[in-house]
Amino acid sequence: MRTPLVAGNWKMNKTVAEARELIMVLGGDLKSITEVEKVVCPPSMSLVAVANLLGGTGIGLGAQNMHWEEKGAFTGEISPGMVREFCQYVILGHSERRQYFGETDQSVNKKVLAAQAAGLVPIVCVGETLAQYEAGETAAVVHRQVLAGLQGVDAAFAPKLVVAYEPVWAIGTGKASSGENAESVHRDVIRPALAELFGAQTAEAIRILYGGSVTGVNAAEFFAQPNVDGALVGGASLKPEFIEIARAAAR
Ligand code: PGA
Repeated sequence: MRTPLVAGNWKMNKTVAEARELIMVLGGDLKSITEVEKVVCPPSMSLVAVANLLGGTGIGLGAQNMHWEEKGAFTGEISPGMVREFCQYVILGHSERRQYFGETDQSVNKKVLAAQAAGLVPIVCVGETLAQYEAGETAAVVHRQVLAGLQGVDAAFAPKLVVAYEPVWAIGTGKASSGENAESVHRDVIRPALAELFGAQTAEAIRILYGGSVTGVNAAEFFAQPNVDGALVGGASLKPEFIEIARAAAR
């Protein structure tokens, strides 16, 4: 059985003071939802402050990105060891990183291997663009992203991996995919790709999240699907609505 995981990707939102306030709003209710793993991913600037508020809440903490090198002359970057000091998770390969910051399957793979080495759970994002979707390339694109992004991961570490399927056309657009469409990509593309890499049994243990305009209203439709093991939530993770989404995952 895969424990549902609901992760909030705050993106570039909330100052440190605002981040503290949001945790005050979300923390108590999230703590009471026990059958679900809950994770918040604030901007790196707020990780220390948020970490100090999460003790005893059962809420995990994740970074939104990191470099693969442990230290050195990489202006503006944070390292796996720096993240690991405060976090248990790290989002890698988000489509906004790929689109605006030049990330590729190869750089994502380096970061995944660095997360493994640091003992961080990577939440590895994959998903097709609107043009790829319209051209019928979803399966090919997602299959390639999974194989390339996760190559070289140890079989022993693989069950800890989290993959997030986020069709780019559904992110921040209010146009979520359907439960049925997400299920078909998770079941027919991502899990078989994981099986190619790690074997069928390990593939069954890996959680596959859906992301892209998940709300308190549509979350239940996604979580009703057997291969949707949770959600990566953007906009709705900045509001009390995130509690509703976590509750829906518990049902
Ligand atoms: P959204 O973002 O929920 O605002 O669509 C999801 C994501 O980018 O992870």
